[in-house]
Amino acid sequence: MHTGTTQTVFLNGEFLPIEEARVPVLDRGFIFGDGIYEVVPIYDRRPFRWAQHHARLERSLARIGIANPRDAHGWASLVRELVDRHPWPDQFVYLQVTRGVARRDHAFPIGVAPTVFAMSSELVAPPAEQREKGVAAITLVDERWLHCDIKSTSLLGNVLARQAAVDAGASECVMFRDGFLTEGSSSNLWVVRHGTVFGPPPDRLILEGVRVGLITELCASEGIALDLRRITREEVLAADELLLSSATREILPITRLDDRPVGAGRPGPVFAKLHAAYQAAKRA
Ligand code: PDD
Repeated sequence: MHTGTTQTVFLNGEFLPIEEARVPVLDRGFIFGDGIYEVVPIYDRRPFRWAQHHARLERSLARIGIANPRDAHGWASLVRELVDRHPWPDQFVYLQVTRGVARRDHAFPIGVAPTVFAMSSELVAPPAEQREKGVAAITLVDERWLHCDIKSTSLLGNVLARQAAVDAGASECVMFRDGFLTEGSSSNLWVVRHGTVFGPPPDRLILEGVRVGLITELCASEGIALDLRRITREEVLAADELLLSSATREILPITRLDDRPVGAGRPGPVFAKLHAAYQAAKRA
């Protein structure tokens, strides 16, 4: 993205221009995709839901057996310093930890320091047209692995799923495993039927988005019924509204699925309520 501002990134203890940041070719992130990451939205220069992003970062590290290279204060000050180095009020900070640099061998290396990389980019809210008209999606069989709860940089399955959507002229996919809804290539999905919001239960088949917790709270405060349970393909096809959520896309309506309208084919009242509540929460 050309923004006219030089991006400063953080790599293993140093801040430097993005063009100068270098990782050795034997980094296990490069060789194996052996790492985890986070994407944290920043509004008005303040991290949004930082505690939840930090907790998930710790969980991901623990799940793949990388010792956390920074304490809670260290992560928070890294995010703050990166944000301070860039002019945009709204940013998104990308944090990545890999298992480090070692001779190529699948087993974990011993005594190797993890690689810590972080960058911040301008966060531009989804265009008004996407909120006003909704976005298109396609259905796909979820062919990813069984640890989708880990926010891993091994994203080939997600990359292929997103490209299938783009090739079909859509912006996201709606994936099913064994006939049950999982998630999008890089977003969580929500079905609205008769005023109730349904989402898949946060298990190993999906990434538990930080917005899953947020939408749970927003439903409670807006008086919208919420049910996290397994959702069939038939229920998705019968939805009044279909929504996606992610750190960078916030909440968006999916109004076309496999070239057919979802419900009335335009953003619905539950989207409008949740979107307004989301906007209020992020500037609170
Ligand atoms: N993706 N599911 C998947 C597979 C994701 O990659 C993401 C986020 C989510 C939503 O999680 P959250 O609400 O915490 O953003 C669900 C980020 C934005 C990305 O990879 O860029």
